Amino acid sequence: MDFTVDSATPAVSASFGATPDPRLRELMQMLTRHLHDFVREASPSIEEWNSAIAFLTEVGHRCSETRQEFILLSDVLGVSMLVETINGQDSGTESTVLGPFHMTESPRRTLGDSIDMVGGGHTCVVTGEVRSTSGRPLPGATVDVWQCTEDGFYDVQQPDVQPPGNGRGLFTTDEYGRYRFRTVVPSHYPIPTDGPVGRLLDATGRHPYRPAHVHFLVSADGHEEVTTHAFVAGSAYTDSDAVFAVKKQLLVDFARCADADLAARHGVEAPFVLAEFDVVLQERA
Ligand code: BEZ
Ligand code: FE
Repeated sequence: MDFTVDSATPAVSASFGATPDPRLRELMQMLTRHLHDFVREASPSIEEWNSAIAFLTEVGHRCSETRQEFILLSDVLGVSMLVETINGQDSGTESTVLGPFHMTESPRRTLGDSIDMVGGGHTCVVTGEVRSTSGRPLPGATVDVWQCTEDGFYDVQQPDVQPPGNGRGLFTTDEYGRYRFRTVVPSHYPIPTDGPVGRLLDATGRHPYRPAHVHFLVSADGHEEVTTHAFVAGSAYTDSDAVFAVKKQLLVDFARCADADLAARHGVEAPFVLAEFDVVLQERA
């Protein structure tokens, strides 16, 4: 049959009909349907299609060991958050994007340690309980955290200023399922804008900023692992995160605390900032 605007979709779909893996067959036929519908609706000129190909080519060229421009593209299109949300726990703490800065292993630290090896910021204590959706505290859970500095940079972005592992820590919860660490209050910051994704944001009048946050990756035996964020409530950009990761449940009060006894118990001086963030994991079926 002649190739026409209308015959294209059944023809290409049928070409995948003998795919042995049924899931791959389903995905390729679905992709064909949606992609063709998009092209029919958008009716791009040859020049527009060539620019789209050039854009995706550049996205590929900007990927390396330390930079993943395709993930960034998926992030700003809201696809990363869609996939996370579809695959997240049915109950318990909501999941969010991992982001591109979990690229190095966090250094193992002892409860109460500081993850800030640079100094000079506003001292902050982050603490909380890891528990099962049944309410049972989870001793021995692993809490991996990473965050940027008060200036809005991760260690890997400032190798001349920050030692490797700054702003990162791998903790194990105590016998009550609790974790605690000292740090500085993170800042909002822009996602990398020096590549094609940055140009896309610029061309579409979108800003590149993410609200201030601490990343968490929490796991415990017999439970679903959760990748999430504690967002600093009241931070700039909580209503317009460039990667759409903010969920109400994850907004955390980073409160000023003047209690000298509490400060001493955490090994800091008053006043300091205290953030309480519990993480709830769903038992594996
Ligand atoms: C991050 O929070 O580290 C991040 C997430 C998505 C894109 C860029 C940065
Ligand atoms: Fe981040």
